Amino acid sequence: MKLAVAGKGGVGKTTLTVLLGEYLTRHGQEVWLVDADSSPCLGPALGLSSDEIPTPLVADTELIRERVGGDGFIRLNPEVGDLPERFHAKAAGMNLLVMGSVAGAGGGCACAANALVKSLLGHLLEERRQWVLVDLEAGVEHLGRGTVESVDGLVVVSEPSLRGLETAANVSRLAYDLGLQRQVLVLNRAAPGAEFPALSDLPPLAAALPRLASLEARQLASASALGLAERELIDQACSAILSALANGRGNLDL
Ligand SMILES: Nc1ncnc2c1ncn2[C@@H]1O[C@H](COP(=O)(O)OP(=O)(O)O)[C@@H](O)[C@H]1O
Ligand SMILES: [Mg+2]
Repeated sequence: MKLAVAGKGGVGKTTLTVLLGEYLTRHGQEVWLVDADSSPCLGPALGLSSDEIPTPLVADTELIRERVGGDGFIRLNPEVGDLPERFHAKAAGMNLLVMGSVAGAGGGCACAANALVKSLLGHLLEERRQWVLVDLEAGVEHLGRGTVESVDGLVVVSEPSLRGLETAANVSRLAYDLGLQRQVLVLNRAAPGAEFPALSDLPPLAAALPRLASLEARQLASASALGLAERELIDQACSAILSALANGRGNLDL
């Protein structure tokens, strides 16, 4: 299954992506984490040092020219089959691909880079026990047909704040309009049972993840979100998120 994680900046998208990946890995699944943020953060959140983190694919102008072309002619279905193997890093039993922003912005080759990223997202997996988790750029502007069409479900993350929830509702509405109906809301840094304004267009709440004291405690020393002390709480949230996404589609068979 392919899931994208979206929401306002700083609400916990990258953290939740890593927590879900770690949970799935412990349950015997093969996990590919895709960093689709223009300021990639998944590598550090997986405990990798900067020299272990691959350069974003969208910045590899040589590769983009070779596969997609440029200068007026663009191949919309470039060959990408060899790229996951060539460009991934391993971390905590998971595979990391750093793409950079899917939508890109301006610049001569943004369009070519997008064609490469979309093809690659579309190509990844589809085998049982394989999962792709895409950590998206913050906000709504980047959410396009390309991203939405390449995933099966959307995890919308928000803090229990009006601004976070408004962004969550906007993200959700746009993705829904683009045809992605399988969506859940996750409240991060929220007490269980916390009340929040019922804005229209918010997806159904699947789980609330509380403030994680062990994550805060290590923050100055490490960006890693792996191996946190609150494992039981985190597992409950991950399990609730995944079963909410599986509704109507049967057992996820973890
Ligand atoms: N539940 C939580 N408890 C404590 N700190 C958290 C929690 N979720 C995220 N954080 C911290 O908040 C900051 C932003 O989280 P991050 O996952 O990078 O957000 P985003 O990817 O949405 O920008 C990070 O420093 C992260 O460690
Ligand atoms: Mg992030």
